[in-house]
Amino acid sequence: MTSPIKGFSKLSKNAKIEWLINNFAQQPETALEMLASYWHADEKVQKLHDDFIENTVSNFYMPFGIAPNFLINGKQYTIPLAIEESSVVAAASKAANFWLDRGGFKAQVIQTTKMGHVHFIWEGANSEQLEALFETVKPQFFQNTESITANMRSRGGGILDLQLVNKTALEPGYYQIQAKFETCDSMGANFINSCLEEFARTWKEAVETASSLPAEDRNVQIVMSILSNYTPECLVRAEVSCPVNQIEEGSGIDNEEFASKFVRAIRIAEIEPYRAVTHNKGIMNGIDSVVMATGNDFRAVEACAHAYAGRNGNYSSLTHAAVEDGIFKFWIEIPLALGTVGGITSLHPMVKFAHEILGKPSATQLMEIVAVAGLAQNFSAVRSLITSGIQKGHMKMHLLNILNQLEATEAEKATIVEYFKDHVVSHSEAVRVFSQIRGIAQPSSVSGSTNS
Ligand code: MEV
Repeated sequence: MTSPIKGFSKLSKNAKIEWLINNFAQQPETALEMLASYWHADEKVQKLHDDFIENTVSNFYMPFGIAPNFLINGKQYTIPLAIEESSVVAAASKAANFWLDRGGFKAQVIQTTKMGHVHFIWEGANSEQLEALFETVKPQFFQNTESITANMRSRGGGILDLQLVNKTALEPGYYQIQAKFETCDSMGANFINSCLEEFARTWKEAVETASSLPAEDRNVQIVMSILSNYTPECLVRAEVSCPVNQIEEGSGIDNEEFASKFVRAIRIAEIEPYRAVTHNKGIMNGIDSVVMATGNDFRAVEACAHAYAGRNGNYSSLTHAAVEDGIFKFWIEIPLALGTVGGITSLHPMVKFAHEILGKPSATQLMEIVAVAGLAQNFSAVRSLITSGIQKGHMKMHLLNILNQLEATEAEKATIVEYFKDHVVSHSEAVRVFSQIRGIAQPSSVSGSTNS
């Protein structure tokens, strides 16, 4: 076992790598070469990556794919996706092409409000006195944050609303200052947190010096000041629709049956959490990969999406479908707190390029694009599930991963891909065909896939 190391963060990059290799690498030379092979050739770009996080020793590549032919609100988009899972980009592209011929996607941002809280404890007896004090202090919250909000206000954003929320029914003495913000094209986390910390200072001082409160109640414990990644008021809707008689599937199933089976599949995801989680995971395949490619915080988006999916007490589908008057409709409603300025959006070269590919969208346009990517992904997944089954397309895409794991040559890959055009792909079958072509016994060390 390695012994703990003190002051690791203060070591140079080379010293960190040396420590890492000495302690963990089974083949030090190879590990060192591997780490170095992922460094960027341009030192300036590498330095950028080094500085994004702490203790950087190398870079971690993620495939960057593109899905063209997305028609959104009448405008053509090519969508960049950063993801390691095969089939996701193919599914996005397939759905884009499918809906291109049927009027494309319509998307609309419903609201863009974000929230944060100062969580505090006040143990006074009369909450009305606290509420009255809050109202008198309110203008000060705005005044004391003027320097923080100046830039945002000039862009049309800033602090929208401040409320005192009494949470004492849940926890003795627990109150919040609940703040609402408009952060325009930025995700706004730093802006919101800076405002909240200033509110907390202002509030503590106001309570401690309030002559309107009894002396024994002039005491407040600020527990924490932090934005909420739950943003149900930062919401976007995207949808597709077409006459049922145009939802022609091309896989042997007729239009009516396709539409009714599709609606039923979505209904199952609405009412059955076991299905809903997998269903939403598929939606997040599309969402996360665009969020990643555009340098946004996919953990925040994930946490929020799942909280929203459970907002009514049961974890449920983020997408919905219906057939009304012969029209098939499929839509998603999802909170997405995204930014197109700030963070790494103007620093990471690939992220910058992703924004260029999308035509340098505003944050609201990006919300629409990302929601569409989720809807498209879900459409392709459910379409496969209710017709051919998911494995047919999925395993075809996964075949290359299996062959790469087997270290097949390009010629071997071509032959094997050709063979599987009319054979069912499975891991063991791919290994068998590979071994046969190479004229070797089947390797026993090649493990199966994880979530593929
Ligand atoms: C796989 O990553 C995603 C799916 O399981 C989604 C779904 O089942 O809807 C195919």
